Amino acid sequence: MKYTVLLPAAGSGKRMGAGQNKLFLELRNIPILIHTLRVFERDPNCERIVLAVKKEEKAFIEQLLKEHCITKVSDIAEGGEERQHSVYAALKVSSSKGIILVHDAARPFIHQQVIQQLVEKANTSGAAVAAVRAKDTMKKVENGIIQETVDRESLWIIQTPQAFRYTILEKAERLAEKDNFLGTDEAMLVERLGERVHIVESTYDNVKMTTSEDLLYGEAILNKREQEEY
Ligand code: CTP
Ligand code: MG
Repeated sequence: MKYTVLLPAAGSGKRMGAGQNKLFLELRNIPILIHTLRVFERDPNCERIVLAVKKEEKAFIEQLLKEHCITKVSDIAEGGEERQHSVYAALKVSSSKGIILVHDAARPFIHQQVIQQLVEKANTSGAAVAAVRAKDTMKKVENGIIQETVDRESLWIIQTPQAFRYTILEKAERLAEKDNFLGTDEAMLVERLGERVHIVESTYDNVKMTTSEDLLYGEAILNKREQEEY
């Protein structure tokens, strides 16, 4: 099943503290952004990649695409203040009307199998997001005092990709903007329309490169995958 992926890449990477967009940091001599792009470049079901980038980084990113032979990027939008704005900007410049995946450019380790399950679920039911089960005991805390232990069985940690039929995502983004509603993921925007969002079980290695320890973890994941290939 074919799809288009929107990759928001217009962040600043403040928590990484690298003094530059963290997507330019390298894992095994290849920028994180390129690792992520390669997943979709290699997936025959991915028809198009749409990026949202900062204006001042566009030329550099175009150069990286050339250097690393990334051919599927069809459009590049100008990112916004918040991630949600960047995603909406990418959606607006995309001409695709089928299944749309939104994926953090900072998650280079997503498995193709999970992508395919998400696309299929979004096609049959409208909206599906990648998630893993919470591993630790979870408690609700206020002012440093535990209020309650939350039943872990019902808790999931939400990742990207998040997959939608175009019409659902477009409506969710449009209404969020109209209502000045800012969500932390696309699912939130769709949930507020009363639409059902399904879960597809993902893997724990689909980590977002957020703080400097994540880079160590990232290198370890690449080492493990290389060993598995041989
Ligand atoms: N992103 C974006 N536009 C923004 C903010 C974030 O396109 N205004 C992108 C990032 O580039 C990243 C993804 O959204 O690929 C997930 O965001 P996050 O991990 O929070 O990255 P940053 O915002 O760059 O990092 P930080 O929050 O630490 O500054
Ligand atoms: Mg951020």
